[in-house]
Amino acid sequence: MEKYESVLKRLEKTAKHYTNIAPENGQFLSILIQSIKAQNVLEVGTSNGYSTIWIAAALKETGGKLITLEFDPKRAEEAQAHLKEVGLDEIVDVRVGNALDEIPKCDATFDLVFLDAEKDEYRRYLELALPNIRSGGLIVADDTVTMRAEMPDYVEFVFNTPTLHSVDIPLDDGVILSYKTNM
Ligand SMILES: C[S@@+](CC[C@H](N)C(=O)[O-])C[C@H]1O[C@@H](n2cnc3c(N)ncnc32)[C@H](O)[C@@H]1O
Repeated sequence: MEKYESVLKRLEKTAKHYTNIAPENGQFLSILIQSIKAQNVLEVGTSNGYSTIWIAAALKETGGKLITLEFDPKRAEEAQAHLKEVGLDEIVDVRVGNALDEIPKCDATFDLVFLDAEKDEYRRYLELALPNIRSGGLIVADDTVTMRAEMPDYVEFVFNTPTLHSVDIPLDDGVILSYKTNM
């Protein structure tokens, strides 16, 4: 991660404007990805690519790839430039479009899915992605403490679906970590 530190530190100065995750959440994603040796990751909500760099840097270690979805072309372009700057652009496919249209077009089998776009769409993102998440795969949803009121359907779904085992983690704005099983 040292290799990427100066760019990450620079992006942290504009984190509020771009609604980036906190560095500790980046570290959390990085640890998960490397622990499960993830090969395919999906990110919903790229913004300017701050969390994308954390994820891609971890995938560089595992030999994996990332698809990241962003519907604002300007932000997607900024993300692409930042990925190029740190030399991670080759392992990241930045797709510009609405995640609700783009998720069904993804044909990879995902080891981990990170949700960080519209909070009231989290459940739909997950329902669309779920068939493509492997058994034993992980789902990380961000802002689950600070913006919980906007995602009651998501919270209900991940804590009441028998094939999902979920836990609330009070890390910065909060995450819910879910583990998919086949029973
Ligand atoms: C919270 S920001 C993502 C921050 C980023 N994950 C990070 O930590 O660096 C959410 C982003 O999702 C994008 N977004 C919101 N709804 C979307 C949708 N339905 N499809 C694609 N992108 C969406 C917004 O344009 C915004 O840039």
